[in-house]
Amino acid sequence: MLQTTGNPVPASHSYSEIPELTIVVPTFNEKDNIRPLVTLLDQALADIRWEVVFVDDDSPDQTAKEVRALGRERSDVRVIHRIGRRGLAGACIEGILSSVAPIVAVMDADLQHDESRLPVMLQHLQDDPELDLVIASRNVEDGSAGSGLSAMRKKGSDLATSMARRALKITATDPMSGFFMVRRSSFNAVVLDLQKQGFKILADMLSASRGQWKVREIGFTFRERQHGISKMDSAVTLEFLGLLAVRLTGGLVSIRFILFMLVGLSGLAVHLLVLRLTLGLISEPFALAQTVAVVVAMTSNFVLNNALTYKDRSLRGMAFLRGLLSFYGVCSVGAVANVGVATAVYAVLPYWAIAGFLGASVGALWNFVASALVTWRA
Ligand code: GDD
Ligand code: MN
Repeated sequence: MLQTTGNPVPASHSYSEIPELTIVVPTFNEKDNIRPLVTLLDQALADIRWEVVFVDDDSPDQTAKEVRALGRERSDVRVIHRIGRRGLAGACIEGILSSVAPIVAVMDADLQHDESRLPVMLQHLQDDPELDLVIASRNVEDGSAGSGLSAMRKKGSDLATSMARRALKITATDPMSGFFMVRRSSFNAVVLDLQKQGFKILADMLSASRGQWKVREIGFTFRERQHGISKMDSAVTLEFLGLLAVRLTGGLVSIRFILFMLVGLSGLAVHLLVLRLTLGLISEPFALAQTVAVVVAMTSNFVLNNALTYKDRSLRGMAFLRGLLSFYGVCSVGAVANVGVATAVYAVLPYWAIAGFLGASVGALWNFVASALVTWRA
């Protein structure tokens, strides 16, 4: 008979098995790093009750399968296997939310983050109940970017850091770090405010905490990647700029919206360039040249949005072609709305720049909303 009263914990389980620390490790194509990382964690965390949660975005190299294999050998290794989704920040958020531990760390899978710092970080949070966050920083006394970054990436990272510190009013020395430990209750207080799209969850968290968090930084040396390749690319840089804009507008716009508008601006440049080139080949009729330019610009907007703005759900194969056609459709309606609004405004307010700007804004907004609902619907 089912017993509903008495001790709710079955004899085979005990509270002492509940982890005091969950380590969240986002992964994309990190199969060869899984076992080495867990071995290092075993050595570093010998006296601590911990678990590790790998959040994998259905990596083609079957990282998730590798983690499941390890998870069958030991219960302190779990995987969250996400399908049809991409993104570092979102993966970290889901991993943290999946944990019951009072304290959660985030680190890279690629052995770049020095796991021997974890017990020190944990100690700080356990000793000081007021402390919300510990950052493993490359930019404090005993920290360094070591050989982990190329000279070029180091420059970019420094620039991003100083921009984030100024624009987001962050005082921490390394808001770009991917290695930190946070109190779960503090994280819960900001999670609704976080951007799931993007690479820089720490900077976003610090900004969302509005300077109210007690933060501590400890140094670490960023090691060189062992296996596999970095997923940091130019899209990551754009997403970061988007993140700044989201924060500067007080959350009025999303990263996606900003990327969509940037792509739209690039489309304008493409349009003018193609128009110029086409007119060089066929000077008459102008409408034909303009039509060629429109089609090329729409196509380039589609390709860029598919690769950047909707990187997390890029269309491929037949879906790519279907998406392109639907995007043409969406943009045609946008163009009609654009002309309609501009004409109506011009009739009452005959300033070409104002009428033109309002028409273009309505068209762009339409394109953004409609393509989100039709072309890249989740
Ligand atoms: N689930 C998931 N989804 N994981 C991802 C994704 C994704 O889309 N993209 C990257 N990852 C995982 C990687 O597998 C790795 O474990 C970790 O996130 C960091 O990615 P890397 O590709 O190793 O980034 P990095 O080493 O170039 O950048 C690191 O250093 C930066 C500072 O310069 C990261 O720690 C960044 O967060 C950090 O800002
Ligand atoms: Mn890395």
